[in-house]
Amino acid sequence: MYNLYINAGEKKNAINRNIYGHFAEHLGRCIYEGIFVGEDSPIPNTKGMRNDVVAALKAMKIPVLRWPGGCFADEYHWKDGVGPKQNRKKMVNTHWGGVVEDNSFGTHEFLELCAQIDCEPYINGNLGSGTVQEMSEWVEYLTFDGLSPMSEWRKQNGSEKPWKVKYFGVGNENWGCGGNMRPEYYADEYRRYATYVRNYSGNRIYKIACGANGADYHWTEKVMEIAARYMDAITLHHYTLPTGNWHKKGPSTGFNEDEFYKTMANCLIMDGLISNHLQIMNKYDPKHRVGLIVDEWGTWYDVEPGTNPGFLYQQNTMRDALVAAITLNIFNKYSNRVVMANIAQTVNVLQAVILTEGAKMVLTPTYHVFKMYKVHQDATLVGSHIQAETIDEYNIPNLSVSASLDAKGALNITAANLSLSKAAPIVCDIAGMDVKTATGRILTGKVDAHNTFEAPDTVKVIDFNDAKIANGKLTFELPPNSVILVTASK
Ligand code: AHR
Repeated sequence: MYNLYINAGEKKNAINRNIYGHFAEHLGRCIYEGIFVGEDSPIPNTKGMRNDVVAALKAMKIPVLRWPGGCFADEYHWKDGVGPKQNRKKMVNTHWGGVVEDNSFGTHEFLELCAQIDCEPYINGNLGSGTVQEMSEWVEYLTFDGLSPMSEWRKQNGSEKPWKVKYFGVGNENWGCGGNMRPEYYADEYRRYATYVRNYSGNRIYKIACGANGADYHWTEKVMEIAARYMDAITLHHYTLPTGNWHKKGPSTGFNEDEFYKTMANCLIMDGLISNHLQIMNKYDPKHRVGLIVDEWGTWYDVEPGTNPGFLYQQNTMRDALVAAITLNIFNKYSNRVVMANIAQTVNVLQAVILTEGAKMVLTPTYHVFKMYKVHQDATLVGSHIQAETIDEYNIPNLSVSASLDAKGALNITAANLSLSKAAPIVCDIAGMDVKTATGRILTGKVDAHNTFEAPDTVKVIDFNDAKIANGKLTFELPPNSVILVTASK
């Protein structure tokens, strides 16, 4: 028996829905094929966007989408991607597979996509190889409602009215693919570029500075010291590699138990990373005005055999479902300061929620976790504590839990059992709420169970009818390697 204590009366902060955000880069088959097929495609589409993918993303309640990169962002020149398609420049996507980028998906198409899926756009500007003027004019093009060269050009290109764009990133991974800068240099550049990222026509930009790679605390220290007052948020990137070694990542399926547990351990690092970066941020921002955005996270394995190594296409198993569940529980825990997170990447790349092959589409185990967890979006985090045990060899807890109250007063508990061999019976004391009924949904399966185009429903969410309430306690049992949502109501 594992004791879970929940205090529904200990209302913490609202969980920002943007923690459940996503990231779509011009990388491999994410944008092209995965999301955008063009209006002439035989694949059913609306203005070029795949209807099946748009519907699935809406059903998952995607709140925010980051675009166009990633490393691509600091090579992207937005002016190449607007205007008549036949005139758009064709270029090489140097970073990702050396393929032709025909710029048929650009600014207008991205904002059309966000409108179709009803999510907030998060645009990442080019600081690494673009100019200050270029970045400044992009914001003018996007948001200015008056008379100006950029707003007139936007109108000529078919959008009479400006868009509302709140989230704007000033560079990506500028410690690496975004220019190999030192933090002092980036911070100064950030200050210069951000100065010209203007607020037009009632649109207020939330400026996002490039943050650290994993445990690079020196980067956060320097960028915060030099530039904190010019930003609204700073980012953090952390990918989960089974071994932690970029040269020996391992396969996405057919892995062994040792690789599974090491993946869990490397995913759990997120907790300490957030806590440590926040402590540094606190030094320069004691009033906690600046938010932390984890705008790239997820698993990174070897690509599927026979696929372009630059396309980062990987399968997605129950192991990935566990990574998603644990990470989202961690984000909830820090949701007083973590204001957004974006899993990498939406379709066909890294820890994707959707895979496509021609007209076919499958939803991955990670998709199902995001859909189950959508109940936490904008809900109120409440106090919870699980008396987990340690899986000794790997020094990790066997359980991960989070709880929130929704607007109607229902208590949603999400939990993951990391053990591959032991079920976890839970006895839950709920203070501050007189719970009368409980329902559930569960995702479980063999450790590397996954969905394919031939068998798309191997891993799927099913009803869980074994959550019981007796003598004021809620009890339920998590099978090994499972993710659960229990909803308790008065
Ligand atoms: O998500 C893939 C790549 O990982 C992104 O382009 C980059 O920002 C990161 O290194």
